[in-house]
Amino acid sequence: MIDAIYIHIPFCVKKCNYCDFVSFSNNKNRDLYIKYLIKELKLYSNYVYDTVYIGGGTPSLLKIEEVKEILNSINIAKNAEITFEINPKTVDYEKLKELKNLGINRVSIGCQSFNNETLKILGRIHNSEIAIKTYKDARKAGFDNINLDLMFAVPGQTLKTLKKDLNVLEELSPQHISIYSLILEENTKFWEMKKSGELNLVGEDLEAEMYKYIIEYLENIGYNQYEISNFSKTNYESKHNLKYWRNQHYVGAGLGASGYIQNKRYKNEITFEKYFEKIDNKKFPIKEVEKLNDRHIEEYKYILGLRLVREGVEILNSEYVEIAEKLIKRHLLNRIKNRYFLTKKGLFLANDVFVEFIK
Ligand SMILES: C[S@@+](CC[C@H](N)C(=O)[O-])C[C@H]1O[C@@H](n2cnc3c(N)ncnc32)[C@H](O)[C@@H]1O
Ligand code: SF4
Repeated sequence: MIDAIYIHIPFCVKKCNYCDFVSFSNNKNRDLYIKYLIKELKLYSNYVYDTVYIGGGTPSLLKIEEVKEILNSINIAKNAEITFEINPKTVDYEKLKELKNLGINRVSIGCQSFNNETLKILGRIHNSEIAIKTYKDARKAGFDNINLDLMFAVPGQTLKTLKKDLNVLEELSPQHISIYSLILEENTKFWEMKKSGELNLVGEDLEAEMYKYIIEYLENIGYNQYEISNFSKTNYESKHNLKYWRNQHYVGAGLGASGYIQNKRYKNEITFEKYFEKIDNKKFPIKEVEKLNDRHIEEYKYILGLRLVREGVEILNSEYVEIAEKLIKRHLLNRIKNRYFLTKKGLFLANDVFVEFIK
């Protein structure tokens, strides 16, 4: 069954120094893209969604009329979770209010940090004050399900500045927090800077210390860590993202978006030309398809499911039970009946755990 859709908006004011997502900082093809996106969405008119996630890029750059058109071109179930990504500095209170009036009931705000030095290093277009203002405006506009995105292990960041970020988070008290450690990606400014020796990455030990501190801090102030990088107040887990980790099917629409339909994982075209051309020919604008056999499906199930630190994943197949039991001996997994969970130690070595499940 398919009841989830991710919709990608590939435009940003400026490319951040660490980001390799499909997004462009010029407005080329901007109007045309929305027209084609709507056509693509209509190709999936047989589905009804109870979670919708409009991400990017920077969806908050869209005009209200465009957001309305996008939402009107899909079938949305009653009481669906509709998430919209917001970048500070691209919205004001009025626009947030309009988004709320369209039925959007969850916003995800990319704050990244509340330290202006860190924000500058990341190449963000906003400072801390603007991020806080955006959050407060969202609250004022009536949003009562707000995620804040943060990053840690950013060059120049220390335990002291990280603690201050957490203090601000505590004060703002959003319902949900996603906090990712920096990943150095190819084709980013950070990658170039690293190559030329201009970037001092945070060492592994400090990164682990930061992660440990984050978990303890957030759990202490009432957040449940339900996924490796995600924390929420009770009953405010992201319904949409839970579907990814539970290995459920979903539509991915838009330039470069990924989806999972009928046991096939696919990725859409990443150039406008090819994306438009396929839609003009009444085809799905898909670039690559990975058809999964039973073994692949199982591997995805375990690797994704183990990310859910409280829910864990059921393993019944004896081949994989054997792998999981070996990981228990290494104190990386725990088991309750047939369900397996990452241990505290396993959380820090999650990638080492996951590779064991790939044959
Ligand atoms: C693709 S972004 C979209 C959100 C929005 N455009 C923004 O930046 O505010 C989703 C989140 O992924 C995280 N992210 C992106 N690139 C990352 C990287 N290289 N390492 C760690 N986290 C990253 C950031 O926290 C970001 O908010
Ligand atoms: S992190 Fe977000 S705002 Fe920055 S370039 Fe990537 S998608 Fe755009």
